[in-house]
Amino acid sequence: MNSYNIAVIPGDGIGPEVVNEGLKVLAAISAKYQFKVTTKTFNFGGAHYLKTGEVLPDSAMEEFKNFNAIYLGAVGHPDVKPGILERGILLKLRFDFEQYINLRPVCLYENVETPIKNKRPEDIDYIVVRENTGDVYTGQGEFRNKGTNDEVATQVMIYSRHQVERCVRYAFELTKQRHKDKSWRGLTPEELKAGYTGKITLCGKSNVLTYVFDLWDRVFNMVAKEYPMVKTDYVHVDAMCIYMIESPERFDTIVTTNMFGDIITDLAAVTQGGMGVAPSGNINPKGVSMFEPVHGSAPQFTGQGVINPIAAIATIKLMLDYLGETKAAAEVESAMVRAIKTMKSMLVGKMGYTTSEVGDIVVAAINGKG
Ligand code: IPM
Ligand code: MN
Repeated sequence: MNSYNIAVIPGDGIGPEVVNEGLKVLAAISAKYQFKVTTKTFNFGGAHYLKTGEVLPDSAMEEFKNFNAIYLGAVGHPDVKPGILERGILLKLRFDFEQYINLRPVCLYENVETPIKNKRPEDIDYIVVRENTGDVYTGQGEFRNKGTNDEVATQVMIYSRHQVERCVRYAFELTKQRHKDKSWRGLTPEELKAGYTGKITLCGKSNVLTYVFDLWDRVFNMVAKEYPMVKTDYVHVDAMCIYMIESPERFDTIVTTNMFGDIITDLAAVTQGGMGVAPSGNINPKGVSMFEPVHGSAPQFTGQGVINPIAAIATIKLMLDYLGETKAAAEVESAMVRAIKTMKSMLVGKMGYTTSEVGDIVVAAINGKG
């Protein structure tokens, strides 16, 4: 029997509520597919920090190495200065465990309302591979003449070839694997005949960021040669914001830098029905990976049972894929899709159900009762 150890960080605000539903689903699916899941809860987050002054100690980082994955709810507390928990927990996990991929699938499910007119589920179905360790996120920069009229602040966009190459390779391989059995719907008959099975779009800003995207472009084209079945495409990040709204059907896999990826995936989340739906995975394919819904801790809604747990449940699906339990992952997704069909809305307080009722419906669907 396969067995997995999952470290759980429920975090702040509504984090514990949505994590609870995700874990309910994980328990149901593991029973059905006969693999064992052991969880251990770590209460890091704003409340712990305010009580103890501790954010995320090295001892916990050491302990996480014994787990197959980390499942995180949300961090962010109204009484903690912005940045402390984000840097001390989220970014620390991403950087110290070299979770160099931030995987953000964008999928509009049936019965989910999108603000984009006339777009259907088959039009919004792509995945963003956001580089997760470089860029302005490395915190390199400085103030000069701080506090004076001559003050200058810099924040450096920095990428090593190594960082770019491992990310780009991951994105090409993912695209190839995604279409192993079924070619991407957006290919023309000519492209199919030419042997293409999928497409990857590099999102950059090569007309202005002439060093960083020159490097990305060269690495992208080099790796592309090893993937003749993957059609390549390039879009500037500003134009990306147009296409993601006007013609999202144009995308299969998008690969991009950390900062651009941060921004475009929030836009993408809105097109797929909002923050109640969007999952993410912070992945080190050979290390400790961490899975979290894209939404934050939404402290104003804590304890009311109004938050949509679908994003946290979709995050479980991503985690199962990562663990290699692909059948279980697919079943979590189809149970979720069935649950979504019975929901009134994906928005806070408008679901027609409480947070835990949504989890119950997904569990019932897994157990053949939905
Ligand atoms: C995200 C978040 C984080 C980021 C913040 C909270 C540091 O916005 O996961 O997208 O910028 O990566
Ligand atoms: Mn973000």
